Amino acid sequence: MREQLEAAAARRSPLLTAKTNAVRLIDGAGDGLPGLFLESFDKRRLLSTTTRSIPPAVSEWLRDSGLPCYWKLLDPHEKESPVYLTGPEAAGPFIIRENGISYEISFLSGYSQGIFLDQRDNRAEVRRRMAPGMKLLNTFAYTGAFSVAAAIVGAQTTTLDLSQTYLDWAKRNLSHNFIDPAAHHFCKGDTFHWLRRFAKQGRRFDGIVLDPPTFSRDEKGKVFRVENDFGELAALAAEILAPCGWLLCCTNFRGMTPAEFERQIRSKLPRPMTPRHAPMPEDFTDRAYLKSVWLE
Ligand SMILES: C[S@@+](CC[C@H](N)C(=O)[O-])C[C@H]1O[C@@H](n2cnc3c(N)ncnc32)[C@H](O)[C@@H]1O
Repeated sequence: MREQLEAAAARRSPLLTAKTNAVRLIDGAGDGLPGLFLESFDKRRLLSTTTRSIPPAVSEWLRDSGLPCYWKLLDPHEKESPVYLTGPEAAGPFIIRENGISYEISFLSGYSQGIFLDQRDNRAEVRRRMAPGMKLLNTFAYTGAFSVAAAIVGAQTTTLDLSQTYLDWAKRNLSHNFIDPAAHHFCKGDTFHWLRRFAKQGRRFDGIVLDPPTFSRDEKGKVFRVENDFGELAALAAEILAPCGWLLCCTNFRGMTPAEFERQIRSKLPRPMTPRHAPMPEDFTDRAYLKSVWLE
């Protein structure tokens, strides 16, 4: 098993550069290690497993690295923070770099650590598509990683999330990149509510990111489910796109194929848009669960 672990990590080493120091080192069955996932955040490691038992060969390999390592159980029902496993304690908060952008990470802030590495290539694409003065709307924004990728090239961003804690984290992420949060917009509340409000106000955006959780309940108890509600979400967003604007629609819901996801979105759009499916980043070699459709 040690050879497998080392080979998986070695395969990703070209991705670790002066500009990017956070990657997935082991991706379960994609590396012949089903149920075992390892991410490296600037040499701090996070092991995730689908069972409570960690194979002794894995524990030994992690201990021998001498690097800080934390562990979490992948359980959508329990969703607990990582716990310390081995090496120097370094839970954070601390800063990682991705394509030259700084993001704040913490192993102490709950089930998620501040960034989803599977969105790295989409963040790079958002950055490529934005330019000074263009407007990005980042819905379900979490810590605002897409917003920073757009703001770094001079775009004006609107970051929208139910959680004030995450909006504050998004502001810190801008500050970590010497971008003044006061020059950007932050909206707390339900995405559907804000999309309707922006439409009434006549606001328009050059790009809109729609990357919701599979299931959520807003502060008024209204339920959102990807399989039922993504079409309506995309339709509302399309109404507030500037001419030539684009939508990025993402889901990690495994109960739908990319074709079904695309069909659901396009069935509700107010006008035809051309779709393009984007693959997952190359360090994600297990089943491609993240569906990303760019529409313009
Ligand atoms: C899966 S994360 C989004 C990840 C993010 N797009 C990224 O790439 O970093 C889901 C986020 O959606 C937010 N959220 C859930 N339901 C929401 C709703 N109805 N309106 C706005 N935000 C919501 C949560 O607070 C959480 O931050």
